[in-house]
Amino acid sequence: MSMKIAILTGGGDCPGLNGAIKWVTKSALDSQLVKKRSVEFEVIGIMEGWKGLIEVDPDDPESRARHLKYLDEEVVRTWDRYGGTNIGASRTNPFNPKNDRSERMVENIKKLGIDIIVAIGGEDTMGVAYKLHRLGIKTVGIPKTIDNDLVGTDYSLGFDTAVNIIMEEVDRLRTTAGSHGRIFVVETMGRHAGWLALHGGECSGAYIILIPEYPFDMNRVCELLREREGREIQYSIVVVSEGAKPKGREGIYKDEKVDDFGHRSLGGIARYVAEEIEKETGFESRYVILSHLQRGGTPSSRDRLMARWYGISAVDMILNEDFGRMASLLHGEITSVPLKEAIDRMKPVDVDKYYDTERYNGRRTIL
Ligand code: F6P
Repeated sequence: MSMKIAILTGGGDCPGLNGAIKWVTKSALDSQLVKKRSVEFEVIGIMEGWKGLIEVDPDDPESRARHLKYLDEEVVRTWDRYGGTNIGASRTNPFNPKNDRSERMVENIKKLGIDIIVAIGGEDTMGVAYKLHRLGIKTVGIPKTIDNDLVGTDYSLGFDTAVNIIMEEVDRLRTTAGSHGRIFVVETMGRHAGWLALHGGECSGAYIILIPEYPFDMNRVCELLREREGREIQYSIVVVSEGAKPKGREGIYKDEKVDDFGHRSLGGIARYVAEEIEKETGFESRYVILSHLQRGGTPSSRDRLMARWYGISAVDMILNEDFGRMASLLHGEITSVPLKEAIDRMKPVDVDKYYDTERYNGRRTIL
């Protein structure tokens, strides 16, 4: 029996996606393993996520060439070294009630003879995969998002690389902050979850970390900064998550635009915080928005390893007929969870467990 696997990457890109594609492909086509299986696989990549699957015209060879990429072990050989996604990504929602294109997509899946979809993405992508599963299409998911806010898994691809980037950039800022005795406010991504800011801030030794899960009091931020005045430390690093908000106020959005899944783009809180600090304390302040730098470059060792394990486990799930599920890391073990568990909500930072609400930083007690 032969089966066609289609892989796609949805949502924002991040390092680790190419590794996951490589390892789905390699383990599906592995010549040693093939001998032991009763099924043979063919693997294709869908260009630009769900958008490619909607837009492809299965009857037109040119359109197929544009939207589909045939994958084999030779094609993907070096992919795990590189960031981004070699099969493109989009934030297209085929089930968007304002422009529902799911019927066309399902028709295309059938016409292209796709037997199984491996969807690599965050909550939105898993949501589409779940809806397809409910429509009887065999799907499995691989978690990725630098925000690490997917429910049902302790780890989503891209997070570790992004945390490393935050750490490296803060290290860089420290020298100039120190030379000029300035406050630097560093804005991280993360949407409405503070994981990136918290872990990035903790490992870079930031003095203050502001997260969406605990609205901050600007007076307290200034008080904490004043407490350092006159001590030997001449500068401070404040890490703020893009979704953080001052008490009693809304978060700061870039504009009014809403994407296909109903999300607005956050951004700009660092400027607000830096301006308020300067106004209230007189300490010279600057801000840096790390933005998409956090999603760029090559994957860290953890993201390469996790991409490999998730890719392999996706093929195991297919062979075990564990459809409608997402690969997952729970308590240090690779496992899988129902897609349904990973959608419709996010995994916030547990403030009681991990956040010091007095110091605005990671807790100094762990056990
Ligand atoms: O969800 C991942 C993420 O990088 C968020 O942290 C950020 O808010 C958003 O995507 C940015 O999206 P875009 O690439 O569409 O600007």
